[in-house]
Amino acid sequence: MTQAQLDESVDYLIKRGFEAPEIGIVLGTGLGQLVDNIENPVEAHYNHIPHFPLATVEFHSGKLIYGTISGKKVVVMQGRFHLYEGYDFVDITYPIRVMHLLGIKKLFVSNAAGAVNLDFKKGDIMLIEDHINLQGGSPLAFKGVSEFGERFVDMSEPYDVDMRKKIENIANKNGISLKKGVYASVVGPQLETKAEYRMLKILGADAVGMSTVPEVIVANHLRLPIVAVSVLTDECDPENLQPIDIQEIIAVANRTEPKMIQLFKELILEI
Ligand code: HPA
Repeated sequence: MTQAQLDESVDYLIKRGFEAPEIGIVLGTGLGQLVDNIENPVEAHYNHIPHFPLATVEFHSGKLIYGTISGKKVVVMQGRFHLYEGYDFVDITYPIRVMHLLGIKKLFVSNAAGAVNLDFKKGDIMLIEDHINLQGGSPLAFKGVSEFGERFVDMSEPYDVDMRKKIENIANKNGISLKKGVYASVVGPQLETKAEYRMLKILGADAVGMSTVPEVIVANHLRLPIVAVSVLTDECDPENLQPIDIQEIIAVANRTEPKMIQLFKELILEI
C-alpha cells in the first residue's frame, strides 16, 4: 500500500460521483439490506476500483455504494474482506483508508457474531464496547506505517463514547434491547471448538467473530470515531454445543438486521 495507490483509488471514486461522504458504513455477513435505504445510490464494484484487493470468486458482489441516508451523504461497503479469504491485514483495511480519504468523519461497523456470553441470545444486538484481538497480527505492523500516522496507536477507548451513548438512547427509545460487551476476533474460517469457547469466556469475551477488529484498529490510526455492533447469530454454549449451520447464521442475521438498520438510521440523523 502506498499513498499514490490510495490517491488513485480515491480519484476513481470521486470521478464516479463519490463526493464528500460524511459517514462510512461497513456491512457484515448477512447484513446487506441496509443498502435498500440508500437514496440516489451510485455503485463501484471492488473489482473496478484501482488497487482494491482483488476479489475472490464468492466475493464478486462486493461493492462500495455512495448515496444519502437520513439526508446525510454516506459510503457503504456491501461485503468486506476477511483474513480467512487469504487477504492480509493491510488488504482488508485498505477500504477504510480509502473512505477516510474520501472524507468520512465517522465510521459505523457491523458484523455477525457468536454469543459467548450466555445471557445473550441469537437475534440480540450487542454494542461493542471493547475488543480482544486474537487474530495474531495487526494492520499497523508494516514498514512505513509512520507515513500514515502514529505507529503506537492508543487503544484505551477504541469505540467512540458519544456515539455509543446515542445508540443506547436510540435503542431505549425504540424498545430495542441492546446488549453491550467485548468482541473477540479470530481468524476463522473454522468455527470454535468447545474448549475454545470456554477459553473465550475466561478471557472476557461476550461475542466472537472473524472481522471488525482490524478495521477498528485502522480507524483509530486515522482518528476516525467508530461505532460497532454485533448481530448475534448463534449461542456458543460449550456444554451444549450444536453443530454450526451457516445458513441459519445468515437467516438470523437477515431477520435481525431491521433493528440494526433502525439504530444506524437514527444515529445518522443525530450526528
Ligand atoms: N464464531 C466465530 N464467528 C462467528 C460465530 C462464531 O461462533 N458466529 C458468527 N460468526
